Amino acid sequence: MLRRLWELTEFPFHPEKLNHYETLFTIGNGYLATRGTFEEGSAGDIATTLVHGIYDHAPGTLVPDLVNIPNWLPIRIWIDGTLFRLVNQNDTTLQPPEGAVLGYRRTLELDHGLMRREVLFRAASGSVVRVVFERFASLKAVHVLAQRVEITAVDGAPEVVVESWIDPDVTNSGTRHWTEVSQNLHDSMVTVQAMTGQSGYRLGMASKLVSPYPVLEQPDGSVPVVSTRFRLEPESSATIDKFTTVYTSRDVAPNEVLTAAQDTLRSAVQRGYDTLLAEHKAEWAAYWDTCDARIDGDDDAQFAIRFVMYHILIAAPRHDDRVSIGAKTLSGFGYKGHVFWDTELFILPPLTLTQPQLARNLLMYRYHNLPGARHKAQANGYDGAMFPWESTDTGEETTPQWSDPQPDGTRIRIWTGDSEQHISTDIAYAVLQYWRWTGDDTFITQYGAEIVLDTAVFWGSRVEHKNGRYEISQQIGPDEYHENIDNAVFTNRMVVWHLQQALNLLDWLQTHAPEAAARLRHELKLTPERLNHWRDIIEKMFIPFDSERQIHVQFPGFFDMEYIPVPHYQPRTSSVQAILGHTRTIQSQVIKQADVVMLMALLGGTLAPREVLLNNWNTYYPRTDHGSSLSPSVHAWVAARLGLDDLAYELFAHAAGIDLDDNKGNVRDGIHGAASGGLYQALVFGLCGLHINEAGELALEPRLPEHWKQVSFTVYYRGEKRRLTVTNPVIGTPAA
Ligand code: BGC
Repeated sequence: MLRRLWELTEFPFHPEKLNHYETLFTIGNGYLATRGTFEEGSAGDIATTLVHGIYDHAPGTLVPDLVNIPNWLPIRIWIDGTLFRLVNQNDTTLQPPEGAVLGYRRTLELDHGLMRREVLFRAASGSVVRVVFERFASLKAVHVLAQRVEITAVDGAPEVVVESWIDPDVTNSGTRHWTEVSQNLHDSMVTVQAMTGQSGYRLGMASKLVSPYPVLEQPDGSVPVVSTRFRLEPESSATIDKFTTVYTSRDVAPNEVLTAAQDTLRSAVQRGYDTLLAEHKAEWAAYWDTCDARIDGDDDAQFAIRFVMYHILIAAPRHDDRVSIGAKTLSGFGYKGHVFWDTELFILPPLTLTQPQLARNLLMYRYHNLPGARHKAQANGYDGAMFPWESTDTGEETTPQWSDPQPDGTRIRIWTGDSEQHISTDIAYAVLQYWRWTGDDTFITQYGAEIVLDTAVFWGSRVEHKNGRYEISQQIGPDEYHENIDNAVFTNRMVVWHLQQALNLLDWLQTHAPEAAARLRHELKLTPERLNHWRDIIEKMFIPFDSERQIHVQFPGFFDMEYIPVPHYQPRTSSVQAILGHTRTIQSQVIKQADVVMLMALLGGTLAPREVLLNNWNTYYPRTDHGSSLSPSVHAWVAARLGLDDLAYELFAHAAGIDLDDNKGNVRDGIHGAASGGLYQALVFGLCGLHINEAGELALEPRLPEHWKQVSFTVYYRGEKRRLTVTNPVIGTPAA
């Protein structure tokens, strides 16, 4: 795979990486995204288009899925009667007469959100054609999807047939969600209408083929098809465009989804491919104007950072503040499209800095879902708002209680929905971080404060008063290998931070927005007793700390478990957990991902003096498995802050390869959104050391790798756009 500054290129075709590359080559526009599957299909492909917010809980499944909508890509081409297709060794369905693929190149243009595929193909007749496909999901008109096929006769004068349809026969890995599917063909427009079985979302899609030759209708098959047929003169070309539009009942009234799709389609066809593409590119240019980070001196790192920002941008909802980004973005079925802390602590910060409006949309998703969080608190016997560990469209807890069947047929109990409660604080952290960077007082007053304060109310009722101090039992910290433990230092310490921030925020509101303060005091019952209780918790919370070793203790009892020297398990291609097995791992000191180190990333120097931070690092880093993709980037960030420069770069490079190199072997399930956002933070907060100093000004403390010449990036700080440049002092220093 070639990675040039703005381009990801597959050359030649790698059928063995079909599903990995489908994920990497995903296109999207924040409304929907489509994996890079081929127009003509391919054995073993996972043709997927996911639209934000369309969830459905099918019978017989444990939790809702983000639903795969009908496939808009199909374009089938015949050259002199030979079916155009790539040969994949796994494909047992091939029928003669066979063609031959003479060349192949696929490129994703990150700067334009455009995928292009070029194939040189010889038909059984001997005619050779060059077929170039392009596709984009318009960033300007988000309901519009555009495809272009250009066919050139390289040798011979072939007879060409191009067929197009929408394929409604789609599933989520076998689970069917669409009912009442109806298809139509009228005035050469193919349409599909459908409804999700349980949740009742309506979908309308419409599609048209635009050809310089007559378009014929074939309404009678199982799926209505349109086609165009022509003969190419030697060395001549024909260009065929296909436009498709998508609406759901989240966008318009349920009975209007089809007419909306048809109307938008007519106007897209009228405006034409070139105009739509020009508008689309202009939107992308505006995006990159603030989102591009330039790294001089390291082309791999440069590409990686653009790649992750591309994937964050295509997943980030632009016009909708009731949806959020799932752990695997919109690029695959992993985690069923559910939203985790990944969004607030990993994906959101890059947007807070570069696209604050998009960050705000994501935070508003949590605001709108406060009722679900209150419901969860109440159902568990607590006050306030307790956010679900996994969230969908309803805001209710949607973490499955059981895993999929293991190879021996048994299922493992999943405790995260019960015990990974730190998410409520993670969301508060993101709200306050957004406020600090943007100065968006309207947001904090009208919406954000309610999130921060009502989650604080939850903690006030959640902590347990024991032994003259406050404790929190039955937790899972970021390290999910250790379940249902008491007094996870990450959670206990973050709760102290959270309650302190809540008190500060209430003071600020009292001065700057007294009406909002009064409303919230009343609605959330922020009585003086309650606030005093918070102060007491801040003072007396148990923070596990070993004063002899001067380290934070991940949780009491952690060091009593078996010590396993994780660094000795190298080189390995799977997690230490996979090597040792679940049972042994959970009884050992192997840590899944940054936990105390995550606390260090979030609280920095306010957590402890530098010696303690270094002790923490030296204790926990060698015990960490990086069994989660969230881990390497946070370690890179913290290592840079501790001045461990070589390690910081090594971990940064590891994080950069998570999706591109598929170094966890699961990219077929989708992009690791948190690893993407984490990489940006490792660069900006870690290697460049960007922070807001005590005077409230932006400051940099760079620890760039030796071979990097310069990094420059743009951030918004309190509404002002700032271009920051960090130059490596090592470069240019005359040799001694
Ligand atoms: C990680 C969690 C993460 C989830 C979704 C898990 O493997 O341990 O921290 O939220 O994946 O990405």
